[in-house]
Amino acid sequence: MTTLRWGLLGLGGISRKFAADLRVAGLDLAAVGSRAQESADRFAAEVGAPRAHGSYAALVDDPTVDVVYVGTPHPFHAEHALLALRAGKHVLVEKPFTLNAAQAREVVAEADARGLVVLEAMWTRFLPHMVRLRELVAAGALGEVRALTADHSQRLPSDPGHRLQDPALGGGALLDLGIYPVSFAWDVLGAPTSVTARSVPTATGVDAQTSVVLTYAGGQHAVTHSALDVAGRNDAVVLGTEARVEIDPTFYQPTSLRLVASDRRVLETFDGSVPGRGMQFQALELERLVREGRSASDALPPHESVAIMETLDEVRRQIGLVYPGE
Ligand SMILES: NC(=O)c1ccc[n+]([C@@H]2O[C@H](COP(=O)([O-])OP(=O)(O)OC[C@H]3O[C@@H](n4cnc5c(N)ncnc54)[C@H](OP(=O)(O)O)[C@@H]3O)[C@@H](O)[C@H]2O)c1
Repeated sequence: MTTLRWGLLGLGGISRKFAADLRVAGLDLAAVGSRAQESADRFAAEVGAPRAHGSYAALVDDPTVDVVYVGTPHPFHAEHALLALRAGKHVLVEKPFTLNAAQAREVVAEADARGLVVLEAMWTRFLPHMVRLRELVAAGALGEVRALTADHSQRLPSDPGHRLQDPALGGGALLDLGIYPVSFAWDVLGAPTSVTARSVPTATGVDAQTSVVLTYAGGQHAVTHSALDVAGRNDAVVLGTEARVEIDPTFYQPTSLRLVASDRRVLETFDGSVPGRGMQFQALELERLVREGRSASDALPPHESVAIMETLDEVRRQIGLVYPGE
């Protein structure tokens, strides 16, 4: 059952994919908004949106829009989420939630003050294989969870003008790719007690490759890797005293997993394939929260998005990555 009318803010690559998944799920795409009318018109025609706005202000003021999806580069997430919240709209904001934890706190405070839902579009959390992983961990199927490893590495454009290479657009591996394994570690193991990071910069001064070790009160370890100049395997493994879960590549997209006992017997194989790319599940979760009058998703409450930004801030402090204007 669809209840909300969606507006897309910032019409780049990921907004195009999200629009397709809204359609896959039969959700209501009401309007799109770009900085230029011409690109809004073109995008609306391409995805079949009834209304096209030539400014973000016009999109958030559109009375036919209930919820705004923010698909702009990370340095603008907070500004655009606040714009939508102040216009009375619920917000789904792309990952990373914001550029840093201070911005994240401001966005969550605004949503709380207005009684609106804000959700980070960390779409992996809402995918069927991640739901199954959380069930297996909660049921004790792994025994005691002791460690995990996860990586997200892609060979992405090296053009210095590309968003991913540009400090002014929040470029670098960590906030685009590394956030997936770090958020995954938060999902499985909760709040770390220590964060240790090492990194190598690009010629433009953002991080090309970043590794993070997180440790926990119970002695658990999480080891994550991200890089934007090599294509990785992009899998994840959660190790427990009785069994491990192997999440097949690509761990952050719809995929399969296996529960494997310490003696190597495969206890369960789970196929998490879905129609479309899989970004519809986060939209369905936001719709459910609004319908049920709740402000926080159990799978990713806003305070956890803030805490993840605090971890990423600490990683950036250790690797010396500061963005313009911070
Ligand atoms: N969930 C996922 O799988 C996934 C995948 C890729 C990216 N993302 C996230 O989505 C966000 C956008 O990434 P993308 O790859 O879609 O980027 P993109 O293709 O460059 O699109 C970003 C859009 O933001 C708008 N924008 C506003 N101010 C801008 C500025 N100063 N410079 C450039 N664009 C500006 C533009 O839309 P208008 O011209 O229409 O205003 C632009 O098309 C990032 O935060 C990224 O982390 C998520």
